[in-house]
Amino acid sequence: MVADVGRILIDRETIAKRVAQLGKELAHDLEHELGHSGGTPEQVVFVPILTGALVFTADLIRELNLKLSLRVVAVSSYPGTSVESKGAKLAGELPRDLAGKHVVLVDDILDSGQTLGLINELVQQQRPASVRICVLLKKPPEVRKREVHAHYVGFEIPSEFVVGYGLDYDGYYRNLPDIGVLKPEAIEAGSAGGKA
Ligand code: IMP
Ligand code: MG
Repeated sequence: MVADVGRILIDRETIAKRVAQLGKELAHDLEHELGHSGGTPEQVVFVPILTGALVFTADLIRELNLKLSLRVVAVSSYPGTSVESKGAKLAGELPRDLAGKHVVLVDDILDSGQTLGLINELVQQQRPASVRICVLLKKPPEVRKREVHAHYVGFEIPSEFVVGYGLDYDGYYRNLPDIGVLKPEAIEAGSAGGKA
């Protein structure tokens, strides 16, 4: 698996340091928000967008010394061997109890913006007390098909297809500890999938 990676873009130590910083920023801002609005910790809900945000969320939430709950949402946008978004589709149910909550939407990467644009729109309809968007990676604004403001961004990266630390190609490579670019020979059309 590691042999398929042509180049490491962000190594595991760099990721860990940045995730710890993001966790501290989020904890600080959420505590401030709760203090300001007279809110209770029970109101803090993290919503990871599966499957890509799984690894990032697992590390991120353990950096927050704060009472919080988790509600997952699944979206599919890169079916099979596609390296271009085919548009976001909700796969399964959206959490239904977000009214009055301080919601943090977490995703692995902001690319075309269609995934977070869709989830943000659906979540806003439930009238949460606040919504924050946190992504580990962000591609340049030129690739955006839908405008989305991410309040917390781990790293800005070039418009390249990356894998590792939760991000997949055709469902694989999510368990790579570093984030990297695949060798061209590892990217080949043909096999079917359907993973987000
Ligand atoms: P968007 O809807 O185009 O913003 O894409 C968001 C989703 O597409 C992410 O949650 C990822 O699952 C996937 N994605 C976007 N860019 C990449 C990439 O470079 N590698 C792997 N998955 C990606
Ligand atoms: Mg995803």
